[in-house]
Amino acid sequence: MSELLQVGRAHERPAPPKPEELTLRFSDRAVAELEALKTHYPDLKSCILPTLWIAQREYGGHLSGEAIAEVAFRLKRSYAEIEGVATFYSMYNVAHKPGRHKIEVCTCLTCSVCGGYRIWEYLKSKLGVGHGQTTPDGVFTLEEVECLDACDRAPVLQVGDQYIGPVDEAGIDALLEKLRKTEESTVVQMADEIVKVHLAATERP
Ligand code: FES
Repeated sequence: MSELLQVGRAHERPAPPKPEELTLRFSDRAVAELEALKTHYPDLKSCILPTLWIAQREYGGHLSGEAIAEVAFRLKRSYAEIEGVATFYSMYNVAHKPGRHKIEVCTCLTCSVCGGYRIWEYLKSKLGVGHGQTTPDGVFTLEEVECLDACDRAPVLQVGDQYIGPVDEAGIDALLEKLRKTEESTVVQMADEIVKVHLAATERP
């Protein structure tokens, strides 16, 4: 069975905080972004996806129970509704807090034909972790993913908002070395880039 099916199981869903324990952590910048976003849509429900991206950035790359509860509070929706949306899309990190860099390895048809599983096995042995797992030092999370829509670069990886491919073992060694030295989280950086895409240049705080 593909390891893709082994992450995000129901028992790994985050627990919501009690209402009286809800602590709002959006920064002033995040609140301003959300206020701008609200003007783009006819109702608050339509803001859920971009607000989850703000939350993913504000909560260090992880949509914890507290992050989901804050989105629910700010959009006046139920926790269950926000959690349902967040767990539907694999680009939101709900089940686990990811490492500083998340390496997504495509093993879909074109990439598997071009060596995607060889790359996948190489990365697993290099990092000592499997699908959805994070290295003990908190630097890398590894995920096997479906088609990244970059088949022309097969076999391809995604790290943050960058596609890397075609990759081979030497390329992976160099990539890991470079990422180890990169202190900024590419998970948080990608969330920030996606928030910017949702805002006009004049709306970016
Ligand atoms: S099959 Fe890997 S990017 Fe499409």
